[in-house]
Amino acid sequence: MKIGVIDYRREPPRSVTDLFEAAKKRGVEAVYLKLPLMDAFIDDGRIVVKQRDELVNIDGAVLRGIGLVMSLDVFEKRLGVLEALASTVPVINNPFNALIAKDKWRSLIRLSLHGLPVPDTMITENPFSAMRYAQAKKKIVYKPLMGSLGLGSALIEDPDLAFQTTRSLMNIGVPSYLQKYLEKPGYDYRVFVVGGKVIGAMKRVSRNSWKTNIAQGAQGVPVQEKDAPEVFTTAVKASKILGLDYAGVDIAEDVSTGKHYILEVNAFPYWEGLRASTGVNPPDYIIEHLIEKIKK
Ligand SMILES: Nc1ncnc2c1ncn2[C@@H]1O[C@H](COP(=O)(O)OP(=O)(O)O)[C@@H](O)[C@H]1O
Ligand SMILES: [Mg+2]
Repeated sequence: MKIGVIDYRREPPRSVTDLFEAAKKRGVEAVYLKLPLMDAFIDDGRIVVKQRDELVNIDGAVLRGIGLVMSLDVFEKRLGVLEALASTVPVINNPFNALIAKDKWRSLIRLSLHGLPVPDTMITENPFSAMRYAQAKKKIVYKPLMGSLGLGSALIEDPDLAFQTTRSLMNIGVPSYLQKYLEKPGYDYRVFVVGGKVIGAMKRVSRNSWKTNIAQGAQGVPVQEKDAPEVFTTAVKASKILGLDYAGVDIAEDVSTGKHYILEVNAFPYWEGLRASTGVNPPDYIIEHLIEKIKK
């Protein structure tokens, strides 16, 4: 058996080499597939994918990223290559589902339509809408629509700042994704789901920031199912609704109501923080899940 690990970076990042190691442990050969170097062909009615000039001859693949800054055409090309590959072998996460999850808004509407709790949220190009939203919700969070690691998110309490932020961002073609701020109990949850099961979960506790990403300095504290059963079931449901084979689900409690809300579902989650605090190694589970899919 031979698998691919797909990313866009020149050199394989840590997450990719972690997956290589997990594959090696299972006696599976793994190759690095770089999206910019990949071509796809329809050849006499057969779908073929190549990297440089070499046929991509694998039984399945793990997708880790498609790139951050690119034109719409390059984005479509990469998605097209992934679609070609996924038409011949299992690719996890499924590229379409992964890209919907990457878009915070499009994943939240899907979760909401399925009855899962999500914070009040809006997207807009209109500074006046942003201003009115800040007035109505008192305290809101601006987030990059497709951001991660807490980078670029900002708290907005002043309606005029909401107005000016949305107006300025629109000058460079960036719409605003705005969400009601939840008063958290000093932490949120990261729940790692693989193949419809929770493999590990942690509270991310922060003393100095409202952003509880590990990348923003939060500390991970392991959590068992009995400590937060509702959080576990919500995470599993969310990853199912979004059709993800593996996912990192972020869930926060609003202390004013005691209710839990899904903040986002990561289709390309990092795992260093979870591994350090729980001892669980997600790549082992991801590779095992892919092997099962290939065997089916
Ligand atoms: N609506 C919100 N209310 C309170 N805190 C939030 C809210 N949205 C995000 N946060 C905090 O910011 C962190 C990052 O937000 P998230 O939506 O997970 O985006 P990303 O991790 O992709 O940057 C969360 O883990 C949480 O601590
Ligand atoms: Mg997050």
